[in-house]
Amino acid sequence: MSAIGELDGWTHVYSGKVRDLYVPATTVDDDDSWTGDPLGRSPVVLVVASDRVSAYDQVLEPAIPGKGAMLTALTHWWFDQLPEVPNHLAYAEDDRLDVPAVPEEVADRATLCRTLDMFPIECVVRGFITGGGWKEYQATGTIGGIRLPDGLQNGDRLPEPVYTPAWKAPLGEHDENISFDRTVELVGETAAEQLRALSLEIFGHASAIAERRGLILADTKFEFGVDREVGIVTLADEVLTSDSSRYWDAAAYANGSTPDARMASFDKQIVRDWLAANWDQHATETPPTLPHEIVEQTAARYRELLERLTGSASPALE
Ligand SMILES: Nc1ncnc2c1ncn2[C@@H]1O[C@H](COP(=O)(O)OP(=O)(O)OP(=O)(O)O)[C@@H](O)[C@H]1O
Ligand SMILES: [Mg+2]
Repeated sequence: MSAIGELDGWTHVYSGKVRDLYVPATTVDDDDSWTGDPLGRSPVVLVVASDRVSAYDQVLEPAIPGKGAMLTALTHWWFDQLPEVPNHLAYAEDDRLDVPAVPEEVADRATLCRTLDMFPIECVVRGFITGGGWKEYQATGTIGGIRLPDGLQNGDRLPEPVYTPAWKAPLGEHDENISFDRTVELVGETAAEQLRALSLEIFGHASAIAERRGLILADTKFEFGVDREVGIVTLADEVLTSDSSRYWDAAAYANGSTPDARMASFDKQIVRDWLAANWDQHATETPPTLPHEIVEQTAARYRELLERLTGSASPALE
């Protein structure tokens, strides 16, 4: 795993597989007797996306150069496209916040956020059937327990997008697909319904935006939390990135005669496929090192998605 840097004015409090979280050093230094969760009492958190790549819940070696910056740029772009959805962005110029400067060395990978009480749920929405959903359908004819028409092929569009939530396992454990009823048990009926409705609504909106740019948003995962100050369910974490979503090229999808040709993807499918072919999870605990060309191809696909969606690196697309 690439080293987690120290940041001037900030204290590192948590690392997930991809992101490192920091709070203002003052919020943990002020009170020596404090032994609780530092995130728990800081109103802001600096979320820094690293270049680490994970697949099948494993962090792989080596990192994908530039990935953290690309994921951050994509998330920010999507927040701009979704102005009606409450999001976790915080603003240093907000007078109520006493926030140290965001250090230069992480500026393009960092997001200043309000600290939310996160729901332990990955809000997955699938508009097309593939991956884990395809596996489930082949075995049971359902996806997330929801019955689907017979005869679907890998990569087909679903009659309508489906919400297939997962329980966010603690670090090191595997996330677990759960039914909607289980989410009600976990977070209560009101919140569970809000999470489902918001996820489907954002997915529909984002799919339309992607489609206008020749891209299919096949599936994605959202995370939400509650803003402590105002109690509102708020969109957090990374949003509609190539790590959290599957994106396909719409033209290739329309013309492709094989599933692989149809699902020309701008995400980490390349990494998943390589790992599936080259790692026997039951035989060795540690996944093998990714070859140089897989790293390069993944970086190139991420770059292309960013360019096609935001038009940022290609002025011709503006
Ligand atoms: N505004 C926020 N307030 C509090 N926590 C947040 C906020 N935004 C994101 N997070 C949390 O920050 C972490 C980001 O780390 P990362 O994406 O690397 O985790 P992960 O490997 O996907 O999963 P895990 O949470 O199991 O570590 C996640 O746990 C996410 O829920
Ligand atoms: Mg995550």
